[in-house]
Amino acid sequence: MDPSSKGRPQTPQYDPTITDKVIAATGPNAHPRLAQVMPSLVRHLHDFAREVNLTVAEWTAAVDMINECGKMSDDRRNETQLLCDIIGLESLVDEITSKMLATSMSETPSAILGPFYRQDAPLLSNGDSIVNLSPSVSWYEQAIADSAFLTGRVVSGRSGMPIKGAVVDVWHTAPNGLYEQQDESQPDMNMRGRFATDADGRYSLYALRPVAYPIPDDGPAGRLLAMLDRHPYRPGHIHFIVSASGFRTLTTQVFDDRDEYITNDSVFAVKDELVVKFKPRDGDSKALWTLEYDFVLGSQEI
Ligand code: BEZ
Ligand code: FE
Repeated sequence: MDPSSKGRPQTPQYDPTITDKVIAATGPNAHPRLAQVMPSLVRHLHDFAREVNLTVAEWTAAVDMINECGKMSDDRRNETQLLCDIIGLESLVDEITSKMLATSMSETPSAILGPFYRQDAPLLSNGDSIVNLSPSVSWYEQAIADSAFLTGRVVSGRSGMPIKGAVVDVWHTAPNGLYEQQDESQPDMNMRGRFATDADGRYSLYALRPVAYPIPDDGPAGRLLAMLDRHPYRPGHIHFIVSASGFRTLTTQVFDDRDEYITNDSVFAVKDELVVKFKPRDGDSKALWTLEYDFVLGSQEI
């Protein structure tokens, strides 16, 4: 027996009343949703602390980490959100939200927005390219090899009918794994565009097959990944926000099945229905690959 534990029970017994006392402290005028969720949160947190025998030093380290996340967050970087991402919380909450609001079984699954979305991407015509490519960039050859034609329809989950005038807002990284706002070598709004569907509900554009890239790992979230012996990579993906009047806006991503991280996304956003296969494209000088992908939207409940 460890002599330092003399007189101390092998499994400590903690005050069995504290959890109920905290929950009972909620007043009669509490915010209704908080009165519903806080007892559960307190119960889970207290159970967690008891289960792992959380010490003051460990709790202090966690508080310091969350404080550090807040201090380094601004309108360009949200480290606390990133922390939630690497423990799968944003993906889980996103799934809960979209399933709570679903109006049919056939809707395209959602996926998290991520921190690199920019509003007001250029409004382009179907058939235009979102890729502004200069031969001077180091990834020029890779961009040619990954050039892709993307097309598909936007349809109603309820009726299966095509939706005319839906807006497909799309963005992805350059082959160097950087979004344009992270990369001085790319022009403003590069690899971003918005396309309105035609009378058949169809969108079409030129883009690139996406590549894997690491999430920002120079802060507390990155340190936690390293301490957990985890990598920071996301599988190559293309982001979409698809919106149409009378329909629930869909935020999602499609994932290239060639990617080595497809089963190992650092933010846990991959869903089977969102994994896509690019096919070789013949007879098009602007693209070596094609992807056909339909988006199925849920109805907007009034
Ligand atoms: C992204 O896909 O852009 C992303 C998502 C979560 C964290 C970091 C990046
Ligand atoms: Fe992304």
